[in-house]
Amino acid sequence: MLSIVQSCALSGVTAVPIAVEVNAGERGDLKFIIVGLPDTSIKESYDRIFSALLNSGFAVPRTRTTVNLAPSYIKKEGSFYDLPIAIGVIQSSGQCHFDGLGDFIIAGELGLSGKIREIRGGLTFAIHAKNYGKKLLLPLESANEAAFVDGVQIFAVNNLNEAVKFLSGEMELQPLKHRSFDGAVGERKHHTDFADIRGQFVMRRAIEVAVAGGHNLLMIGPPGSGKSMGARRIPGIMPMLTFDEFLETMSIYSAAGLLMSGENACFERPFRSPHHTISNAGLLGGGSIPTPGEISLAHNGVLFLDELAEFRKVTLESLRQPLEDGEVIISRSARKIKFPCNSMVVGAMNPCPCGHLGEPGNRCKCSRLDVQKYRARISGPLVDRFDIHVHVQAVPVVDIQCKLPCESSATIRERVEKAFSIQRKRNANGACNARMQHSEISKFCGLDVASSALMEQAMRQLFLSARAYDRILKVARTVADLEDEERILSGHLLEAIQYRSLDRK
Ligand SMILES: Nc1ncnc2c1ncn2[C@@H]1O[C@H](COP(=O)(O)OP(=O)(O)OP(=O)(O)O)[C@@H](O)[C@H]1O
Ligand SMILES: [Mg+2]
Ligand SMILES: [Zn+2]
Repeated sequence: MLSIVQSCALSGVTAVPIAVEVNAGERGDLKFIIVGLPDTSIKESYDRIFSALLNSGFAVPRTRTTVNLAPSYIKKEGSFYDLPIAIGVIQSSGQCHFDGLGDFIIAGELGLSGKIREIRGGLTFAIHAKNYGKKLLLPLESANEAAFVDGVQIFAVNNLNEAVKFLSGEMELQPLKHRSFDGAVGERKHHTDFADIRGQFVMRRAIEVAVAGGHNLLMIGPPGSGKSMGARRIPGIMPMLTFDEFLETMSIYSAAGLLMSGENACFERPFRSPHHTISNAGLLGGGSIPTPGEISLAHNGVLFLDELAEFRKVTLESLRQPLEDGEVIISRSARKIKFPCNSMVVGAMNPCPCGHLGEPGNRCKCSRLDVQKYRARISGPLVDRFDIHVHVQAVPVVDIQCKLPCESSATIRERVEKAFSIQRKRNANGACNARMQHSEISKFCGLDVASSALMEQAMRQLFLSARAYDRILKVARTVADLEDEERILSGHLLEAIQYRSLDRK
């Protein structure tokens, strides 16, 4: 008898429906066959599922049994299908009948004892079930992440017996209680504050402008000047995630399996700081079962590339397209998997190999060629993707010894939040200024006659690249938004031009 159980597969950060068709009682050899482009982990599930059935008091079919995972053009990976296959086998071999099985989407891995083990993607599956108007049956341990999705009935089970009793109506289960986002956010957890940073007004201002408009930021300065310190304090001046942003970011963590055991649910904007030895796949995503990379785990937050010049050049170059598009596309045979990566990228580097170029006292002993080679590790097109370049100077001793309190993260955040709300209302899809489309730049970044002349002069005298033009306008828009000023005034433009120091030929 044929039995069909609905399940789903992960494709990037979304789920696609998979029908698990089980036909037991076929004539022929005693065989268990899984078809429909399964990977080796699914082919190996045979022994797991049969042990789980026997240890839960069910019989294994004494006939030929075929399992088809449809549609067959999607490659099926992982152990999500153990539970739906077991349920299908039980019904198909006539051991139980499940009325209303079609109302459920089912996913879960089985242990040999019949225990249902956690899977990655619980939250993504919950969003999928909601979109398809289905109920969801998941492992108990995946419930924590799935419960963030409202408006869908999610049932969590601990073992195969519980699942069978529930689906056959022998046992009642209450759907999971929705986990409130607002309640979970609570207090900000940052233990670091901008008040810790003495002096460094230029860097502080550049960080504020960058965060306010979602601009990528490159900081260049000597060792110990506070670049890493500043970068690590950025999440503390960003506005809270909205619920939609939270779900987007969490879907990525869910697909990466980072939410398992309820850990890591990230109510604040993510801050990812990969080491410079990271591989391309680690940064961008990939692997035989494609998982998101650091750039996607930083979605709606910050990707901090400390010691930027130490990263492999090919790794840095591979960032160019995702930075432009806001998504990473991984090709796997016939299909393309997308991971969003709309994050603010912050880079920090020294001005030369020894780190002291430009400091008073001529401490730098690097040759011109050394400096050129060092700078060349960051290509022009990559530098161009940083809207704001800032040269950070060593902290003067008077600033270090100054006893006056420095501005706190909370105060800076208030200004950033105001600028954010202006952009959310004005820009298409509530995007930040850094992500404005060309048409929006023409509409919202108009210059008066004096500012146009100023821009023209800057382009000619500072030899700014034509590519820098739009970036300057976007940053000037953010500076104006921080002052709640509708027009871009020459002061705003001048500040934005200053931030293109690495473009100067
Ligand atoms: N402006 C500052 N105010 C207070 N302390 C500072 C400041 N700048 C640096 N420090 C101190 O110096 C330490 C090193 O700073 P940080 O790691 O941010 O430097 P960096 O610019 O990233 O250097 P590197 O180029 O070597 O990575 C900090 O942990 C802090 O103790
Ligand atoms: Mg540093
Ligand atoms: Zn040097």
